[in-house]
Amino acid sequence: MKMTARTILITGGSSGIGLELAGQLLARGNVVIITGRDERALATAARRLPGLHTFRSDVSEAGDIRAVYESVTASFPALDTLVNNAGIMRIIRLAEHRALEDVTQEIDIDLSGPMRMVQQFLPHLQSRPNALIVNVSSGLAFVPFPISPIYSAAKAGLHAYTRCLRAQLKGSNVTVVELAPPLTETPLFTAEFASQMNGQKGMAVDVLARRAIAAVEAGKTEIRPGQSNLLKIASRLAPGLIFTQMSKVGRS
Ligand SMILES: NC(=O)c1ccc[n+]([C@@H]2O[C@H](COP(=O)([O-])OP(=O)(O)OC[C@H]3O[C@@H](n4cnc5c(N)ncnc54)[C@H](OP(=O)(O)O)[C@@H]3O)[C@@H](O)[C@H]2O)c1
Repeated sequence: MKMTARTILITGGSSGIGLELAGQLLARGNVVIITGRDERALATAARRLPGLHTFRSDVSEAGDIRAVYESVTASFPALDTLVNNAGIMRIIRLAEHRALEDVTQEIDIDLSGPMRMVQQFLPHLQSRPNALIVNVSSGLAFVPFPISPIYSAAKAGLHAYTRCLRAQLKGSNVTVVELAPPLTETPLFTAEFASQMNGQKGMAVDVLARRAIAAVEAGKTEIRPGQSNLLKIASRLAPGLIFTQMSKVGRS
């Protein structure tokens, strides 16, 4: 599947992996629209990447999803690619007090977000030739990370959902891809997690985006760069051992 001359909507495109994908995909002659919650971050991204289109929309709000659908399909009827990339990841100590409204944010954004986006956009994508959905999960979809329990559950759920979506759309004009990034040098990683990782560095974000685009073009439907592939293999060969190792990170 060529990643040129497409019309691509990327959720959470104002930072990190989404922003890097947006830049590389624009440079290949695609029309790219990004979403995010923060208007200022969207404006900064648009200044950085001339030609980029932006739309403020929160993937955890059903009304925002309806609004971005109406606007984007009206302005860009050639839309043929949806990249469900928006996500948050927090360290959550389950024994500490936390409001019920707050505790499941990763489920609302990282799991319900892509499910609702697909529900809303699928009829349109089915009307386009060679349509593509890319769901951005994580290497943690294969092995849970105990300091981020809600995130781990959301990404494992997204992995399961993406497999089901691919099976249901098999033989149709819509290709379903899962991109499971490893640790990647973005604000999400450097903000809260880098200090927990004993100096371990993530993959450079430009390398991750290049590998992801090349893998889609090569026809891969489950893309597991670097450590994500190791996590999947370890989850099969030595599930207890790898989970014990992951459980040691951030233990206070
Ligand atoms: N970096 C890593 O190590 C790593 C590893 C594996 C998987 N991933 C996954 O890769 C994806 C991108 O992460 P990243 O590292 O690039 O993070 P990032 O730099 O923090 O960027 C996250 C993007 O998502 C947007 N976003 C967050 N909540 C949103 C919401 N409710 N609605 C719409 N947009 C929202 C953010 O903008 P606003 O805050 O303005 O909304 C921002 O544009 C995520 O799904 C993450 O789980 C990252």
